[in-house]
Amino acid sequence: MNRILVTGGVGYIGSHTVVELMQQGYDVVIVDNLSNSNIQVLDGIEAIVGRRPDFVNVDCCDYVALDNVFRTYTDIVGVIHFAASKAVGESVERPLLYYRNNTLSLITLLALMQEHKVNHLVFSSSCTVYGQPDPEHLPVDETAPRKKALSPYGNTKRINEDIICDQAHACPSLHATILRYFNPIGAHPSALIGELPNGVPNNLLPFVTQTAAGLRKELRVFGNDYNTPDGSCIRDYIYVVDLAKAHVKAIQRMLGGQAEEQVEIFNLGTGRGLSVLEIIRTFEQVTGRKLPYTIVGRREGDIEQVWADPRKANTVLGWSADTPIPEVLLSAWRWEKHLRNIED
Ligand code: UFG
Repeated sequence: MNRILVTGGVGYIGSHTVVELMQQGYDVVIVDNLSNSNIQVLDGIEAIVGRRPDFVNVDCCDYVALDNVFRTYTDIVGVIHFAASKAVGESVERPLLYYRNNTLSLITLLALMQEHKVNHLVFSSSCTVYGQPDPEHLPVDETAPRKKALSPYGNTKRINEDIICDQAHACPSLHATILRYFNPIGAHPSALIGELPNGVPNNLLPFVTQTAAGLRKELRVFGNDYNTPDGSCIRDYIYVVDLAKAHVKAIQRMLGGQAEEQVEIFNLGTGRGLSVLEIIRTFEQVTGRKLPYTIVGRREGDIEQVWADPRKANTVLGWSADTPIPEVLLSAWRWEKHLRNIED
């Protein structure tokens, strides 16, 4: 059987992808050092799928330990590489940690893939590589220029994309798919897995659901004086389960020999931009909960507005993100309620 190595498979997007892979019949081995995730996620995956994925506690920067995984699992045919540090603010404070973790893990992985003749890689990139696209590039497609990163985290995504392209050039058997995510939100419909932020959430949705659950006094909206219809920032929020399914499509496309280029790049978004205030209003409508919030100043480094042109993924990958946003927000709320034992 075909086995997929999923690094960071205990994390938020990783765990949802493991579920989709296993439901499509793939065997999975997860490599994760649990630095920002909880081993109990494996119970959630098992409860959903009815099988437990193999798991090895390994840091992807550890060449010897990762080599052992490839030696043990000789049936690995592809790798999906999620494992990375991802807090934008922390990356500004601790750039070396980010450059080390995020680039060294990819380099180690690519070296071992070459060594063990594993030729298919899916890489988690981000729309952060586009920065604030110029107006003529909104919605943003894959041909839009990449801009100077606003944080070391963002820079590692850009550097890693380049590392993959250079390695593919040097190693003709390697095929890679670079997936540029817009803003993943929501949780599995079972409410058995979801996002588990450490401490005070940085991202909008976990802060929204924690506020609705009473864990936070109020949500702060970072700025209402942007050049957008209601003054708050606009993002392309994509359901994490839709996003997870794109990974299965990407790996299937490469394994089936359908990839037209050695490195293919896809934007993964809905094609629709929503403002922070629209998210708040919709969340209140679908959950019936009042969400206390105040408008505060802009957050440093925030991009005003970005949303995807996902047509390449729609046509070439045969994938689209079509779960309606009310359903997505409800899934996030059901997950928060599950975590906090909140009854309706
Ligand atoms: N926001 C608030 N209040 C909060 C949190 C967020 O108003 O408490 C706003 C932000 O200002 C932004 C929007 O909600 O306008 C979304 O913010 P997130 O932090 O959820 O997402 P970002 O778009 O800032 O960042 C995300 C990922 C990064 C990635 C980036 C790529 O978290 O990892 O997208 O564009 F780099």
